[in-house]
Amino acid sequence: MEYRELVEGIKIPVLGLGTWQIGGGMIADSSRDEEEVAALRTGIELGMTHIDTAENYAAGHCEELVGEAIKPYKREDLFITTKVWPNHLRRDDLLASMKGSLSRLDLEYVDLYLIHWPNPSVPLRETMGALEECAEEGHTRFIGLSNFSAPLMEEAKSYLLEHRLVADQVEYNLIDQHPKGELLPYCQKNDVMLIAYTPLARGSLARLRNNIELDEVAEKYGKTPGQVALNWLIFQDKVVAIPKASKIEHLKENVGAVGWKLRKEDFEKLTKAFR
Ligand SMILES: NC(=O)c1ccc[n+]([C@@H]2O[C@H](COP(=O)([O-])OP(=O)(O)OC[C@H]3O[C@@H](n4cnc5c(N)ncnc54)[C@H](OP(=O)(O)O)[C@@H]3O)[C@@H](O)[C@H]2O)c1
Repeated sequence: MEYRELVEGIKIPVLGLGTWQIGGGMIADSSRDEEEVAALRTGIELGMTHIDTAENYAAGHCEELVGEAIKPYKREDLFITTKVWPNHLRRDDLLASMKGSLSRLDLEYVDLYLIHWPNPSVPLRETMGALEECAEEGHTRFIGLSNFSAPLMEEAKSYLLEHRLVADQVEYNLIDQHPKGELLPYCQKNDVMLIAYTPLARGSLARLRNNIELDEVAEKYGKTPGQVALNWLIFQDKVVAIPKASKIEHLKENVGAVGWKLRKEDFEKLTKAFR
């Protein structure tokens, strides 16, 4: 695995584990619990020790499965991110959400707590204060955002007193390159990690014959299209990715996106091919 510095002295793997659809979708589904826990453990053993979950995934059951999956591992070897849903952004609601997540994860603290989506009907100053309280109380080591634009991140930052925003988690992949315009340059300048979600465009980038240039580059490096699509993301400064995979062969394939690097001209070729 390769790592990228989140803040001074703290590194996270360039590839983590997404968990949306683990344990169900909008509602809990326990029918595949054993398989999902085994898949998460395989991912951890392959080095994808940053696990991304959220209070609303599978109505909380996803956090329960993550909590179960991580039990055999040393807490300090893992980096656990969870997120508060936008209807819980008032101070008291956010603090209750934080406690609910910790209880389902069976953890004393998470590493990163994110606002899942902005909610214009709740004052951002109040939410940022509540996030800082979570950090003050030791419920989370770091705080950040998800689905925030650069201007909204700048506003969020202006309300912080003691802590800083370390990450913004947004959709970013070859097909959806919108962060390349304003957000990624902002993150790079302000030392904020861009955590790329849906990095495989829900698996479509991992399929052959989706795009001629992607297939060509994959063949040139002896890699799969999915590995190239992930390598295209982590080629970029201040970017890490969190592909989700429940199939063991997918997990193994994805980790093969690490340990080599696209040449600059191939990175540019792919950027253009999908733009
Ligand atoms: N902050 C937000 O608002 C937000 C929004 C969306 C997602 N996220 C986070 O980002 C994570 C990743 O995004 P995502 O789940 O939307 O999409 P994704 O990671 O781009 O794609 C996941 C899909 O791709 C398949 N897949 C994975 N590796 C593959 C491979 N090597 N070959 C073929 N198919 C492969 C998976 O199948 P199997 O599972 O069957 O292996 C799954 O169906 C989420 O799980 C979640 O943690 C956050």
